[in-house]
Amino acid sequence: MIILPGPASNTLGEAIAHKLGKEPKFVNNRIFPDGESYIQMPSNLEGETVVLVQTTAPEPDRKLMQLLFMARTAKDMGAKKIISVIPYLAYARQDKRFLEGEALSFDIVLELLEAVGINHTIIIDVHSEEALQRLKPKHEMTIHNLTAIFVLAEYMKNQGFDGANSLSPDIGRKEIVKEVSKTMGGGFAFFEKNRDKYTGETTMKVKDLELRGENVVIFDDIISSGGTMSRAIRGLKEQGAGKVAAVCTHALPVPGTNEKLKNAGADRIVATDTVQSIYETVSVAGLISDYLKKL
Ligand code: R5P
Repeated sequence: MIILPGPASNTLGEAIAHKLGKEPKFVNNRIFPDGESYIQMPSNLEGETVVLVQTTAPEPDRKLMQLLFMARTAKDMGAKKIISVIPYLAYARQDKRFLEGEALSFDIVLELLEAVGINHTIIIDVHSEEALQRLKPKHEMTIHNLTAIFVLAEYMKNQGFDGANSLSPDIGRKEIVKEVSKTMGGGFAFFEKNRDKYTGETTMKVKDLELRGENVVIFDDIISSGGTMSRAIRGLKEQGAGKVAAVCTHALPVPGTNEKLKNAGADRIVATDTVQSIYETVSVAGLISDYLKKL
């Protein structure tokens, strides 16, 4: 097995290789003045199982294209099996056609990965497990979705949040957060969204859990604009919660996210290294390397 970190995941790819007792082989890449990507793969891939580690944010289009170039070239060079590790898979949020003519980006991306010869794809905390299950039968490529939530929970327990309440910001991630609340050792709940009929502003409150003075960890898959998390944090603080940690797998902040979270009263902001993060970071290298051993 050869571990090849792509340009978007050099550090994580190297950490995965080292956990497997291997030295990674690096891809030569550069960006042409017109913005196109150049990729050159290392030699001697013939007959090998090749693991390509490449996340797809920020700049999803470029990073996805680089991954496609890497995979197809590895195949041309005679690799026996190609495994792509895509810690954050971009475009997975567009999984349904709400308006006529909308692109089903998630499905198209999976199709592209398969078309360039990828046999297995490992993703961390895909946006919708339900959508993935729906699309899986359409593809020959085997898709594995791992969750980083338990790695994050263990980290938070060692950071003074042992016994804290676990909250899910929406119904979609309710089951997994309920499961992790057993590891955290505190209560579990999810938020109810309310819209003010005069201002149109939405607020988020927790029902059926007394949170006064209690520490809380909110677990989400993504923090992007910070809107979801900041509304949740504000709601908790209004309910008298103690320390509140905003925890996510993929940090995709945009300008203003940080201020929004801080102003809402976040005591901690934690993410994983699926995407290079400006926040306190927990590595998923162990989670991925342990899984690779089983493939
Ligand atoms: C929504 O379904 C997701 O789980 C996240 O809550 C959402 O993507 C976060 O986005 P934002 O930070 O922009 O509210």
